Amino acid sequence: MHERITKAVIPAAGLGTRFLPATKAMPKEMLPVVDKPAIQYVVEEAVSAGLVDVLMVTGRNKNALENHFDRVAELEATLKAKGDDAKLMQVNASTGLAAMHYVRQGDPMGLGHAVHRARMHVGNEPFAVLLGDDLIDERDPLLRRMLDEQVARDASIVALLEVDPDQIHLYGAAAVEPTDDPDVVRVTGLVEKPVREAAPSNYAVIGRYVLKPDVFDVLERTAPGRGGEIQLTDALMTMAKDVSGTGGVYGVVFRGRRYDTGDKLEYIKAVVQLAADRDDLGPDLRSWLVEYAVGL
Ligand code: G1P
Repeated sequence: MHERITKAVIPAAGLGTRFLPATKAMPKEMLPVVDKPAIQYVVEEAVSAGLVDVLMVTGRNKNALENHFDRVAELEATLKAKGDDAKLMQVNASTGLAAMHYVRQGDPMGLGHAVHRARMHVGNEPFAVLLGDDLIDERDPLLRRMLDEQVARDASIVALLEVDPDQIHLYGAAAVEPTDDPDVVRVTGLVEKPVREAAPSNYAVIGRYVLKPDVFDVLERTAPGRGGEIQLTDALMTMAKDVSGTGGVYGVVFRGRRYDTGDKLEYIKAVVQLAADRDDLGPDLRSWLVEYAVGL
């Protein structure tokens, strides 16, 4: 249904200060989640939803990202010579995944600014934005549904997750109205990281968006908001209100498994949960976890 949408934009220019000192010399997107860098999960998610053209918006210190999605001839030759096909496959898995493109953000002026840097590459077609801190479990696909809704409604689509009201200050929060589909709501307002009392609901925007290209013009007119940064949330707020021009904004309510690798504790939980689900590591890890928990 969504043959038209092939482009994914992945903002990856952040400094990763929440993970210092691990991120002093290494991009936070390269932190391993079990045995793959977090960013590889995100690119794999894009590709499995049909988004085979990926633009990463990067910054200084991010060369490891480009290297990870490129060939490593020496390593390949060594593994080939050893006949280690399993490892060779793992090494090559990230190489041919997608058509990778890179642009630097330049000034670190916020998520809205990073997305605007994709304008030249994206052109005049709808596209997806995937934030690297959010991992969506591949068993609970979200992006495909969002792409279908974008086409069906000719609107911009955000992913919404119901969170504990105590957590809403960490997210963009959406004011919503129901539609005739229980999984889809119309977004009537958005606030970036409101205090609990000011949040219009406990629907949090999570890091998946399918946007109409109108967003670029709106971003150009969007003044710096929270934190002095150009906020994607603010541009989407404009689009949610100006339905005539842009088709408005709808939210797909996600009820599946999501892991927040941008937060230390949540990152640790993600690694444990994903490892516990794996056939190779799961059985041993699960029995150890039970033993360990008893001793706590
Ligand atoms: C960004 C967005 C926010 C959204 C969040 C999802 O914030 O600005 O609206 O809810 O991603 O992860 P960040 O977490 O990058 O500060």
